[in-house]
Order: sequence, then structure tokens, then C-alpha cells
Amino acid sequence: MKNILITGGAGFIGSNFVNLMVRKYGDKYTYVVYDKLTYAANMENLKPSEGKYIFVKGDICDLEQNIETLKKYNIDAVVHFAAESHVDNSIKRPLTFTETNVLGTHALLEACKQVWGEGSENKFVHVSTDEVFGSLGDEGYFSETSPIKSNSPYSASKASSDLIAFAYAETFKMNVSVTNCSNNYGPNQHHEKLIPHMISLAVQDKPLTVYGEGLNIRDWLFVDDHCEAIDIVLHKGRKGERYCIGGHNEKRNIEIVKLILERLGKPETLIQHVEDRKGHDFRYAIDPSKTREEFGWEPHTMFKDGIVKTIDWYLEHPEYLDK
Ligand SMILES: NC(=O)c1ccc[n+]([C@@H]2O[C@H](COP(=O)([O-])OP(=O)(O)OC[C@H]3O[C@@H](n4cnc5c(N)ncnc54)[C@H](O)[C@@H]3O)[C@@H](O)[C@H]2O)c1
Repeated sequence: MKNILITGGAGFIGSNFVNLMVRKYGDKYTYVVYDKLTYAANMENLKPSEGKYIFVKGDICDLEQNIETLKKYNIDAVVHFAAESHVDNSIKRPLTFTETNVLGTHALLEACKQVWGEGSENKFVHVSTDEVFGSLGDEGYFSETSPIKSNSPYSASKASSDLIAFAYAETFKMNVSVTNCSNNYGPNQHHEKLIPHMISLAVQDKPLTVYGEGLNIRDWLFVDDHCEAIDIVLHKGRKGERYCIGGHNEKRNIEIVKLILERLGKPETLIQHVEDRKGHDFRYAIDPSKTREEFGWEPHTMFKDGIVKTIDWYLEHPEYLDK
């Protein structure tokens, strides 16, 4: 492996992945960031890796451009982050999610098949989410064998893209692995997402609008821990395998909001409960045993440290907040 294509590399997790790879491996690999630069992208995210990557403005839905890029840079591995990623947007404009996440992933896999050939050992890591498994009650965890029961247009589009990825591994014997991770937090996240959104409101003393009672539970993982796991799957993941990634850090949304207010020294009276999101999944939680046992992967950042680091990072980078 020499030349790695990182789709969606200017987004939240993709940029943290590029920055981590550059820190970890230096010049060992050539990194080609392939991104359409939607509203969710920010080239500033890649500042720590300036001069260490090649940028191509491209759309994964464009089969010809995918093929051209794979050939031009002699790509022999793909880490696929590019997606529409915000559940609320998928409720407002669902078709965009099917176009990008389903058709885009398909066009990218097809391009790899055409350029690399069937049975190629070149690696394709498809980065997906725990949301494909639907919603849990108070007990139990998602694992690689959980049934697909996605509820939102976002999770349904990701679940569909997972199935296409597995179909390319099975039918065309391509070296595809799929990762399903829990909620990420950390630097570079777009302010539409819970943590930067709540920080944005709190610093302006605006009401922090929380869906319903805020009792929904998410399993939070610091973004670098996710990126470390993806790096391991890139190097060691087995063909046609799914890997669940999570850090057993379950928190209710309201707990996160209160933590932010406490760190900012703002009163809890700023919290305002609003009508719940349509089809709001109650709980996500990952059992990461397979990833841990197969690779020895463990998260390194404790939630209590990661959340403080994250809040402080946004305060030091107010340009990332929603004004
Ligand atoms: N954020 C999370 O908590 C989380 C958790 C698990 C899995 N994931 C998955 O990880 C991946 C990255 O998530 P994120 O939070 O970094 O998303 P993001 O929205 O921050 O970034 C997405 C990136 O993809 C790019 N993009 C969108 N459409 C494109 C297209 N047609 N062609 C090329 N580039 C395009 C955008 O410009 C942006 O840079 C997604 O596939 C998401 O489903 C996210």
C-alpha cells in the first residue's frame, strides 16, 4: 500500500484521520483527499497536514471522475468517509442522502472494481455508523451480528451502502471491510452537530434547545480513537468483515448539555425542551469485543478528559461555532 484515497477528507472524521496518519506515518504514504466540499467540509480542518496531502475536488457520485482519480494517483487503498451525515437534514431532504451515501458509495466501489480488477487485494475501508442497527432499549449492545433495522433516511442510506460494500466483497472478491462506529466527538466537527451546536448557543447565552426530555442515549467516542481503529482495519481488516467500534461511554443528551453549561459557567436555566425529533432512536451502544479481540484496539481517551479537551478546543476556535 502506497497511495491512499481519503474520500470526505475535508469533513470532521476524514480530516482527523488524515491528520492522524500524517502524524503517525509521515511520508510513508501519499494521501489524496477527495472531497466535493459541501457545506460540511472545511479545508482549515487539514491545516496541521498542510503540504502533506494532495487535494482533489471531486464527487463520489461521478463514476468517470472516480476512475480518473484512482488511475492518475495510482491509488491502491481507499478509506471512504464521504457522506451526508446529519440525521436532521435527512428528514428535511432525504433524497440527497440516497444519492450521496448509496449511489456515491456504489460509484466509488464500481470505479475501484474497474480500475483494480475483480479479486484485487487493494484495500477498501467503508466507514459506517452504529445507527444502521436501529434503536436499543435500556439493555443490550449492537455487535457485528445485530440485524439491520435502520430508522432514519440517514441510517437507511448508510445501511444500504454497507450492503453494497459487502456485495462487492462477496461477488467481485474485493478486499472490502466495513466499520460501524458510535457517535464521535472532538475538534473539526460542523456546528450542526450536538456538541458544537450546544457550545455555540451557550456562549451566546441563547436557549439550548434539547429534543424532548433529552433522555436519548448515545455511546461517545473521541474521534482520534475512531481514526486509530480505522487505521488498524486499513492495515489488518479481513475481506468482507464488519467491525463495530465504540468505547462504552454511554451518555444521555441532557448530560452532555449540562456538562457544556458547567464548563462554560452558564446556568441550566438556558436549557429549553422542544418537540422531539421524528423517529428519534432512543439508545445506541456498541459491543466492540471483535475489534478489541482481533486487533487489540482500545480507546485511549476517557470521556471525562475528551469532553473537556473538546469544549476547550471550540472555545479556542470560535470560527467553528455557529454565529
Ligand atoms: N460523526 C459521527 O459521529 C459518525 C459516527 C460513525 C460513522 N460516521 C460516518 O463517518 C463518515 C464521516 O462522517 P463525518 O461526521 O466526518 O461527516 P461530515 O459531514 O463532517 O463530512 C462529510 C464530508 O464528505 C464530503 N462529501 C459529501 N458528499 C460528497 C460527495 N458526493 N463526494 C465527495 N465528498 C463528499 C463533505 O464535503 C464533507 O467533507 C460518514 O460516512 C458517517 O456516516 C460518522
